[in-house]
Amino acid sequence: MNKEKHKVILVGDGAVGSSFAFSILQSGGVDELVIVDIKKDHTMGDALDLEDITPFSGSATVRTGDYSDASEAQIVVITAGVPRKPGETRLDLVEKNTKILESIISPVVQSGFKGCFVVSANPVDILTTMTQRLSGFPKERVIGTGTSLDSARLQVALAHKLDVDVREINAYVLGEHGDSSFANFDEAKVAGEAIRDIQNITDDDLLELESEVKKKGGKIIGYKGATFYGVAMSLGIICKAILMNEDLVLPVSAPLDGQYGLKNIYLGTVSIINGNGIQQVLEVPLSEEETKKMQHSAYEMNKVLEEVKA
Ligand code: 2OP
Repeated sequence: MNKEKHKVILVGDGAVGSSFAFSILQSGGVDELVIVDIKKDHTMGDALDLEDITPFSGSATVRTGDYSDASEAQIVVITAGVPRKPGETRLDLVEKNTKILESIISPVVQSGFKGCFVVSANPVDILTTMTQRLSGFPKERVIGTGTSLDSARLQVALAHKLDVDVREINAYVLGEHGDSSFANFDEAKVAGEAIRDIQNITDDDLLELESEVKKKGGKIIGYKGATFYGVAMSLGIICKAILMNEDLVLPVSAPLDGQYGLKNIYLGTVSIINGNGIQQVLEVPLSEEETKKMQHSAYEMNKVLEEVKA
């Protein structure tokens, strides 16, 4: 029996999209990657450049295309959006990126696409919520990178602080991928040991690290004008978990349906991702203060969603 062809459509061939393409082609999960972007010459050049890695990374077709290619795809990745400028908040981006999103979702749905949307464009929780509402897709088939990137940053910060291998760190950032996100230290572990039980790190140290993590996106943007490798890798592992049906446990922008007392909104919480998209949205035990932070994120996001009438 022929193996089902794994086809991914990448919408947006900017720094994030191109880095994602380079990453996913090396993970071996993709048979065909189609890149869609309004900058036709750049996209053609990227596709031709990327196909030159396939003799080393494993056979895959890389080409430019359009939204009609989504009809047989398992995944449509949406990175298209105006990046955040230094000093600008993600929520400032909403109006501009909403128009771009609307121009993508409609033709993709019209193509007969029945797979999963994976969204990284910012503000990612709002745009993921809007992708689900505009497409009308089942909620489990719309996923945002959400706080997977922030969680990676927290793991890096803790590994530096404790001088351990980053793979020994299990720690999540939850909530909105942005200023109101928070680190869930009560569940964080280092080599299986609760971080709160580790002597050489105090609560003040943890709060300092949380603050560093929340500022890291802006810090990188201040140095190089954008961030792309971390979020591109997050897109890659989410897509691989869908294509290979992996049951990946990861904090992503997931559809809340009563978790933390919230409904009808996407926010960063730990989820299980497999061939069905989001197989399960987990409700992480939160303190009263953390629950309030999650609910505050939702309140702020709903205000913005109201404004853009999503
Ligand atoms: C970041 O935090 C771009 O929002 C992305 O790096």
